[in-house]
Amino acid sequence: MSAVDIIVKKRDGLELTREEIEFFVRGITSGEIPDYQVSAWAMAVLLNGMSAQETTDLTLAMAHSGTVLDLSGVVPLAVDKHSTGGVGDKTTLVVEPIVAACGLPVGKMSGRGLGFSGGTLDKLESIPGFRTNLSREEFLDHLKRYGMVLTGQTGELAPADGKLYALRDVTGTVPSIPLIASSIMSKKIAAGAQAILLDVKVGLGAFMQTLDSASELARLMVAIGQRSGRQTIALLSDMNQPLGNAVGNALEVREAIDTLHGGGPEDFREHCLVAAAHMLMLGRKAGSLDEARAKAEEALVSGQAWGRFKQLVQAQGGDVRVVEEPDRLPEAPLKEIVPAPQSGYLAVINAREVGETSVQLGAGRVKKGDPIDPAVGIVVHRKVGDRVEQGQPLFTVHASSQEKLDAAVERLLAAHQFSAEPVEPLPLFYGVITEQDILQKE
Ligand code: URA
Repeated sequence: MSAVDIIVKKRDGLELTREEIEFFVRGITSGEIPDYQVSAWAMAVLLNGMSAQETTDLTLAMAHSGTVLDLSGVVPLAVDKHSTGGVGDKTTLVVEPIVAACGLPVGKMSGRGLGFSGGTLDKLESIPGFRTNLSREEFLDHLKRYGMVLTGQTGELAPADGKLYALRDVTGTVPSIPLIASSIMSKKIAAGAQAILLDVKVGLGAFMQTLDSASELARLMVAIGQRSGRQTIALLSDMNQPLGNAVGNALEVREAIDTLHGGGPEDFREHCLVAAAHMLMLGRKAGSLDEARAKAEEALVSGQAWGRFKQLVQAQGGDVRVVEEPDRLPEAPLKEIVPAPQSGYLAVINAREVGETSVQLGAGRVKKGDPIDPAVGIVVHRKVGDRVEQGQPLFTVHASSQEKLDAAVERLLAAHQFSAEPVEPLPLFYGVITEQDILQKE
């Protein structure tokens, strides 16, 4: 078997065997297959696709390229949640404490933001002291002790994906559904959760811009979960406009805290409750989705979820006073409330543009390792479908300099479109894909 034979086979649109995929992934991990061959292979996969079986084999080979955590000896059943990335998506900060408050352990490894899409680790690091680099031992210990842990992925998990993703990033091979599905699921499987909720975003501010492509990705990931013995369910959720109002790290932490106190934007709160309810169902903490949702709501309203969030911050070295008094969070020196330039119904708040603008303000990074400014960002005050009168607040920009603020205002105004006719609000969700859906189709 040779790397070039495998590349040629994929180039010619043929299906790779498990042995061939395992050979190739071993070569990626050890470095024996050079970057140019890995890149050529990734392009062949992008152009010719992979079957569900090939994608599952690739996922498992990448998961087993490093440590695969076994959480079964630590807690009876741990759930994980993964969002495919979006703008204003601070869901984990609220959902994990809700689910933990309902007695279901959550062991979560999160990522950093890249490009227009934010990352949970960056948000949490706006809380001074919060550690996102727990060791494997600490991860297991916190999960056992608190039933809740939220950290970055350690380098020992799915190293083949780390190498492949870095090459895909610079060879135009990120947007391949089998490569995305195997990349995400290999990390989830290596992190050890027995049940996984996937939040697949669709729309302007998501990897997947159409419902068809998002459904295809979701189905494939649920199928991989099923074939590898992890109970998996996928939500298809809207990412045409930002989720909630805040975009930017400390601003999003503040919004998550408001939500944990029973406030927060309506769309964000609802999104969190639905996600939490599905996780509780996966973890068999409720007999029906209605019962699961009622439990999630109770955890939020009673303040138990807030208590669990504070416990999480404390356990991971964060300054609890900062979350108790969010005015202590990092704050940008300049703030400008921008009024609506005209009256009408809001037809578009382009999530990608809002995300890109937050990156320009310094809230995100253009390439891995760039520093970020936790204080800057954007708060939108209106949602698609709202009637807005000229002069009413449309959004607020939090910036570190006047130049950045002016550029952001101009870009954000262009990202808002108005209609003279009433506009339907955007749905929060487009559907749910379960293992049953996949089985029925097979
Ligand atoms: N997120 C991942 O982890 N991998 C991808 O390929 C795309 C998004």
